Amino acid sequence: MDGHSSCGKSTMAKTLAKKIGYTYIDTGAMYRTVTLYALRRGFINGDVIDEESLRRELPGIEISFGHDDQGKQYTMLNGENVEREIRGMEVSGKVSPISAIPFVREAMVEQQRAMGSKGAVIMDGRDIGTTVFPNAELKIFVTASDEIRARRRFDELTLKGENPVYEDVLKNVRERDYIDSHRAVSPLRKADDAIVLDNSDMTFQQQDEWLMEHYLEAAK
Ligand code: DC
Repeated sequence: MDGHSSCGKSTMAKTLAKKIGYTYIDTGAMYRTVTLYALRRGFINGDVIDEESLRRELPGIEISFGHDDQGKQYTMLNGENVEREIRGMEVSGKVSPISAIPFVREAMVEQQRAMGSKGAVIMDGRDIGTTVFPNAELKIFVTASDEIRARRRFDELTLKGENPVYEDVLKNVRERDYIDSHRAVSPLRKADDAIVLDNSDMTFQQQDEWLMEHYLEAAK
């Protein structure tokens, strides 16, 4: 499942994974975790990224997923739960340039292929249908209008206790779309055989039903 940022991909992917007993893999969380690591180590200074240092330390960055008592998934960086930190504005503001670095993508794609090698996974990202699993049985490309996506992200951040400014969130959504779609390696692009889901005007229930229908069709 690929698509633009903040269009509800992860929520719908998680819901479907739970219903059909598949493993959900959030590849955006992996790029966010590398970004958090780079920020903490001081490898990002304004627009300048110390790529050499990041390349050197990348093999020591272990990303894994855990589940809390309610079955909610969280992301770990070298064994530390960083779920909250990777969703904040600081990481969101730097994740696109980090995820555009070819050696970062190579390392993440390799891990993603290993995670999906046994099948029965729903993987959510930007290049899953085009690069990571070009032979996936079902490819969905999710999108929604910029304003609706910014509103959803704004509500999510507010619920988490942050104090976002709507215009900043909208700017971040647009900037990430631009960088994600124009980078040299694996730009965000709909795979030719992906089915588009524009959920701008859909309720959660409608999109879950839409997705289940397509899953059942593909599983036949
Ligand atoms: O899905 P998300 O918003 O958490 O993703 C964060 C960033 O990571 C996004 O701006 C683009 C990048 N990303 C990517 O380049 N490739 C992926 N497969 C997943 C995410």
